[in-house]
Amino acid sequence: MLDGWPPPILDPAGPYASGIALLGWVLFAMGGLVVLVVLAALYVALFGKGELQRKLGGTRLIWIAGIAFPLIVLTALLVWGLALTRNLSDPIRGDELRIRVTGEMWWWRVAYLDGRGEPVIHDANELHIPAGQPVVLELDSADVIHSFWVPRLSGKLDMIPGRRNLMRIQADQPGVYGGQCAEYCGGPHALMGLTVAAHAPADFRRLIRARLARERTSAVATNAGQGGRLFASAGCAACHRIAGTSANGLAGPDLTFVGNRRTLGAGILPNNRGTMMGWIGNSQAIKPNNRMPPYTVLSGEELTALAAYLEAQK
Ligand code: CUA
Repeated sequence: MLDGWPPPILDPAGPYASGIALLGWVLFAMGGLVVLVVLAALYVALFGKGELQRKLGGTRLIWIAGIAFPLIVLTALLVWGLALTRNLSDPIRGDELRIRVTGEMWWWRVAYLDGRGEPVIHDANELHIPAGQPVVLELDSADVIHSFWVPRLSGKLDMIPGRRNLMRIQADQPGVYGGQCAEYCGGPHALMGLTVAAHAPADFRRLIRARLARERTSAVATNAGQGGRLFASAGCAACHRIAGTSANGLAGPDLTFVGNRRTLGAGILPNNRGTMMGWIGNSQAIKPNNRMPPYTVLSGEELTALAAYLEAQK
């Protein structure tokens, strides 16, 4: 079982999700009430006494229950719902931590932005955030429409090519929170998951410092060991980047920190030696139609070496 998966949709873990969850419950309760009243009216219409049936069929009831009641209740719910979820559209101050998440078929490109909006740390399929603070996400898409949804941390927002949608998420406590692409984007859409890990603020700062240092390291030895040599010679580097090495492909997920990731294949497998070998060997059997070709030519020994090399990337 993967941490935080499947994400419960009515178990908010922060201020943005809790307004939405409360609104959901209240709408559900009101809807349930209306169903009960309609059923009662249906019962009266079918089996009620003559007097009651006459009242039910009169114009007075239509004015009250058919026009006045929905008008008042729906207007009140609209005003209350907008007030309740107002924090979702608070203006962006500009000094918040900002992470750009780009929907790709069928994974998530992640970049942590500096104060000028330049990407300084690259990752994929996993977000790290500080607990107890709002984080601004810049959502866009590289191909078709996807939708970013981590139900315990915020609402759901489409990722649209050529547009930049801003959204806040917040986790009150450290933990791991699952997410899922919520807009059908073809092929393995259902296997486009992601993970958000919230850390205590001090741990988060440490993680970011370490990653910044790693991103700035140049000339990392890649030919050390069979795994590194295979990574360069088998064609992996054409699609994947590992900071500081000659691997600079941008088509697929950045692998600089792949050894740290909780999952593989965009939130669908736990990340360990065995799943890494299986993924490289034939990811098509795991996530059909994803864009990584199978490497069935590699021997078990070669897969082990590659997986060990990737495990060390953190
Ligand atoms: Cu991406 Cu559905």
